[in-house]
Amino acid sequence: MPGTCVIGLQWGDEAKGKLVDLLCPQFDIVVRFLGGANAGHTVVVGDQTYKLHHVPSGILNPGVMNVVTPGVVINPATILKEIDALLARDIEVGANLMLSDRAHIVCPWHIAEDQVMNGQPVQGESIGTTLRGIGPCYRDKVGRSHAIRLGDLYSADFRERIESIADVKRRILSGLSGQEGGDFGLDPAKIYEEYCGYAERLHKYVDDTTAFLLDAVDAGKRLLFEGAQGALLDVDHGTFPFVTSSNSSGVGVASGSGVPARSIDRMIGVAKAYTTRVGGGPFPTEQDNEVGQRIRDLGNEYGTTTGRPRRCGWFDAVAVRYTARLSGIDCLALMMMDVLSQLPEIQICTAYELDGEQIDRFPSQVGDLRRVKPVYETWPGWESDVTGVRKLADFPAGARRYLDRISELVGKPIDVVSVGPDREQTIFD
Ligand code: GDP
Ligand code: IMO
Ligand code: MG
Repeated sequence: MPGTCVIGLQWGDEAKGKLVDLLCPQFDIVVRFLGGANAGHTVVVGDQTYKLHHVPSGILNPGVMNVVTPGVVINPATILKEIDALLARDIEVGANLMLSDRAHIVCPWHIAEDQVMNGQPVQGESIGTTLRGIGPCYRDKVGRSHAIRLGDLYSADFRERIESIADVKRRILSGLSGQEGGDFGLDPAKIYEEYCGYAERLHKYVDDTTAFLLDAVDAGKRLLFEGAQGALLDVDHGTFPFVTSSNSSGVGVASGSGVPARSIDRMIGVAKAYTTRVGGGPFPTEQDNEVGQRIRDLGNEYGTTTGRPRRCGWFDAVAVRYTARLSGIDCLALMMMDVLSQLPEIQICTAYELDGEQIDRFPSQVGDLRRVKPVYETWPGWESDVTGVRKLADFPAGARRYLDRISELVGKPIDVVSVGPDREQTIFD
């Protein structure tokens, strides 16, 4: 049976983790194909909350295989902490986790570079990265000469690689930061020792995931692909340069995983019933006011990875229509309907006004996105507690009309609605 993919359609944190965990019982393998420790996926199981960064959200489902593919950048120290934290909570992490030997690893210089670069504004604003070394690691992957892959940890020349790269990186960091002669904590002997320790502990998980997944496809296994970040953060198709450094829309699934796109026959787009964003960059429907604060309070909108307050605003149908088409979405999962259900009045952005002209196309340039004025439809709120709703028919009429309108504007059916963090607080159409 071919695969299904879950993709975030906004700027991340759409509750992909919750959906992947829920869908798991129908699948044999969960595949994480991009990003790294910048992601924070929350899964709530009863009174337990798990925050996953590298490890796929299938890990809480016994019997499901979890695969981290070449498109992911792995921080060995962080993933080991994550594994240890799961083991300490009696979650099995052993033969059910496989990490690609082709995946690039985040090294201490990547974190240092992220810190230095993030302090330097781009187009007048800081990108506001998660400071997890993601951009610098992907930059080295594309640049090739200073990159280290997970499989390289086991090669005979690993010590030499660390020594020569650390030397170059110290010089680059001196130039970038203006701190002549600084060592930036990059002691090659120490890094080598540390990474040898990680290599030993990670060894049992490391394998050729591409071969494994291609065999799985041939054997008719059911694959669930877990997106990270959101399509508006896609390096090629998002709000560049205020994006992450990989293809986080649907276009990245095949390249990141090594599984041909034709093996995926269902794309589920996840969106919140409103919009959030962490970090810098344009956000046309942002409510930097008491409405935004109310959404933040009701939705507990603070970053899973960094704890930063998320910027909050209204649902942007222009943006989601764009990312749903870009990602080849078949249906939508609309999350956090319980949060929206508390508001006395709700707005939906149906179009933008750019320099006096109404447009329904998502602009490619940040300058235009900063200038657009959202065209809103205003809705009376239904102001009722929907956290106990389990059937679409049981939603208040106003909420049902809102769902229909979102579906109409985005041009896709809504197959899943979420009314709370728990597994049970989910309605499948
Ligand atoms: P991800 O990165 O896309 O997996 O999303 P995050 O885990 O970063 O953020 C989503 C947050 O919303 C988590 O804290 C979830 O537990 C929570 N959540 C998921 N679905 C719902 C929902 O329908 N309502 C509410 N109130 N919270 C939800
Ligand atoms: P999940 O998978 C929300 C944002 C950062 C920053 C930009 C670049 O949990 O949805 P990076 O560290 O990737 O170089 O930062 O991207 N960002 C996310 N925002 N959710 C995420 O992941 C994110 N991953 C990166 O805040 O604006
Ligand atoms: Mg998140």
